[in-house]
Amino acid sequence: MPDVNMQVDLAGVTLKNPVVVASGTFGFGREYSQFYSLGELGGICAKGLTLHPRMGNPSPRIAETPMGILNSVGLENPGVDAFIAEGLPFLRKFDTKVIANISGNTPEEYGIMCEKLSDAGVDMIEVNISCPNVKAGGLAYGTRPELAAEVTETAKKHAGNVPVMVKLSPNVTDITEIARAVEGAGADALSLINTIRGMRIDINTRRPVLRMNTGGLSGPAVLPVAVRMVWEVFQAVRLPILGMGGVSRGEDAAQLMLAGASAVAVGTALFADPFAPLAVRDGLAEIAQRQGLSAVSELTGGVRPW
Ligand SMILES: Cc1cc2nc3c(=O)[nH]c(=O)nc-3n(C[C@H](O)[C@H](O)[C@H](O)COP(=O)(O)O)c2cc1C
Repeated sequence: MPDVNMQVDLAGVTLKNPVVVASGTFGFGREYSQFYSLGELGGICAKGLTLHPRMGNPSPRIAETPMGILNSVGLENPGVDAFIAEGLPFLRKFDTKVIANISGNTPEEYGIMCEKLSDAGVDMIEVNISCPNVKAGGLAYGTRPELAAEVTETAKKHAGNVPVMVKLSPNVTDITEIARAVEGAGADALSLINTIRGMRIDINTRRPVLRMNTGGLSGPAVLPVAVRMVWEVFQAVRLPILGMGGVSRGEDAAQLMLAGASAVAVGTALFADPFAPLAVRDGLAEIAQRQGLSAVSELTGGVRPW
């Protein structure tokens, strides 16, 4: 491993390296722990939780696209209590940071979940206000500044000392407007981007490929959108950013960091290669060393715009 300090800070939480796995693409870690120790990762954003268990949407709910996938999983999960009883104790066996990801139907639901999760001792709470695949809550909160602020305020009020990171939607005209509202409401960090709404149609049946008609696009196709949005948000607010969207190589992660991210998350790339986060970490270290940096954190915000 090159001689580069890989440690980064995300809203007061120290990550041993800047590579986290993205919510909804890593489950609660069990399956992936057969491939490598989860302690290799900077952190784990656990699968999105709701107050009560959810079955998610009907199938088909995942479809391939050029350079990405469309999904409409719809937050299938066992509920926050089951995570605290089973998922969290498992993740705690590893020396990595645990970030719980939550979605609510109302601000109150976000508040209840924050209280439970902060009592349970997660390292950070990622507040998802950007899921394009659920009717209630989800995207509605992420596209309206005043609602985004209300959810953030409620989450902060109930999260105790646990930092609150708000996950932003790319499905807006001006992402900085939402970022500013969330910063004003007291968020500790931002994560972006969630998936971009999309659609695929089977031309023979004339049916949409996904049972919900539309879904969220992720994977390499969205990387340039993510880089652009991280760069815009970095200039608009002072909050640290967890950047994601289409990262599968160290160079992708370096682009997001140069645009302003303090750390990055790997999602869809995991489906093709469970080891992708480790390759991203090692690639980042090599890039930092090649560029003569002593710490990978020196990349953050280092872009030199024309
Ligand atoms: C199958 C699938 C499930 C997802 N579930 C969640 C979720 O539960 N909560 C959330 O905040 N984001 C969820 N996401 C979004 C990812 O965390 C990430 O923001 C997005 O996929 C972009 O990163 P990527 O291109 O590396 O996958 C999901 C994405 C996928 C592909």
